[in-house]
Amino acid sequence: MKKLFLETLGCAMNSRDSEHLVAQLNQKEPYQLTTELGEADLIIINTCSVREKPVSKLFSEIGVFNKKRKKGAKIGVCGCTASHLGKEIIKRAPVVDFVLGARNVSKINEVVDKHHAVEIDINYDESQFQFGEYRNHSLRAMINISIGCDKQCSFCIVPATRGEEISIPKDIIISEIQKVVDNGAKEVMLLGQNVNNYGRRFSDNSGSKYSFTMLLQDISKIDGLKRIRFTSPHPLHMDDEFLEEFASNPKICKQIHIPLQSGSTKLLKEMKRGYTKEWFLNRCNKIREMLPNVAISTDIIVGFPNESEEDFNDTLDVLEKVRFDQLFSFKYSPRPMTPAKDYENQVDAQVASARLTHLQARHTEILDEIMDSQLGCEIEVYFDELKANNQISGRSDEGRLVYIDGSEDILGTIRKIKVTKVSRASLSGELI
Ligand code: SAH
Ligand code: F3S
Repeated sequence: MKKLFLETLGCAMNSRDSEHLVAQLNQKEPYQLTTELGEADLIIINTCSVREKPVSKLFSEIGVFNKKRKKGAKIGVCGCTASHLGKEIIKRAPVVDFVLGARNVSKINEVVDKHHAVEIDINYDESQFQFGEYRNHSLRAMINISIGCDKQCSFCIVPATRGEEISIPKDIIISEIQKVVDNGAKEVMLLGQNVNNYGRRFSDNSGSKYSFTMLLQDISKIDGLKRIRFTSPHPLHMDDEFLEEFASNPKICKQIHIPLQSGSTKLLKEMKRGYTKEWFLNRCNKIREMLPNVAISTDIIVGFPNESEEDFNDTLDVLEKVRFDQLFSFKYSPRPMTPAKDYENQVDAQVASARLTHLQARHTEILDEIMDSQLGCEIEVYFDELKANNQISGRSDEGRLVYIDGSEDILGTIRKIKVTKVSRASLSGELI
């Protein structure tokens, strides 16, 4: 059997695209996944282009992979950087055999055997494509609910690499979830760049009134499905109806990612995010009023053009008020095809680095307090990973990583545990 070395960078959507790539390849010819580059017949890098760093890393990596590869092994570049650079990749690195964009995953078999094939059409509509079935995990599953993104956040390259937003028809989503549940999954993660904009556009142009809240209600009717997570909702589209469903539906996990980007209303406007600092705090407060123990995570960019000390202090203020359970924070990285790269007053790199360090240090203190408060708590955990040293791991409803000593029979079950040890990244406990 041929062997495939597949490297996946970036977001959850890319992880799901990688599963789709394997599924599609297998429909033509079976591949066995390998972690040994030197024995692979096919090497695929599924790339991210959201920041500059992974893009520059790509070309040095191609050089390394080229040296280490087995004679005759092919190298393919897929994903967002493929969409964005296209044939430029082959110009800069002629050892690359093919380039396949983030919205052309279903065409992998059309390019895999063609020398220097490039397929990067961002208008290509895969929202109804019936991908083959391949999953890295049987106990939990990622489920795409939309492709692309219609927002035009001024810093973000994603709309240019993944194209316009199209919702995947509800029936396809429901039947995909039914399939994974029949195969043993109890938890799903719904994926989209802007999940709560679901229903905005379907490929048949049906002006459907079907919303994300309605989708959540219908998904939660699936027997055997115990837990629903989703990422990412946009703060602007968090209406009361959605928040009430989130709070009251027992199958929806009480963990929510709300990407802030900046606490400064002035910068949010320049970022074209469509909400203010007050709106963001209002939404977080409303969730916390209904669910005091909810876990809220966020994305923050520091050093966006024009960010003053005062703007940064607004971001710190939101951090103090919301006390995020998880923070993904980044230094602003100017990206091609985005308006913000041409904005005046780009922030000095050292100032941005210092702000990032400050933000992360304060978040870490808050996180330690949150994790300490978990000691002695009784929580429900869905155990889905077998670890070394007779340990099993899983996630609490709030998404916290939990370890216990245990054996395989606990896998795939939801158990109550008492937390006996805490660290910054995880909890440990005993079955009750
Ligand atoms: N809609 C997606 C966002 C994808 S990009 C979602 O909600 O998950 C993921 C994160 O990368 C963004 O939330 C943002 O914080 C960060 N990001 C995007 N463009 C960036 C840039 N040019 N520089 C730094 N960080 C960026
Ligand atoms: Fe990017 Fe904004 Fe969409 S961050 S993915 S343009 S919601």
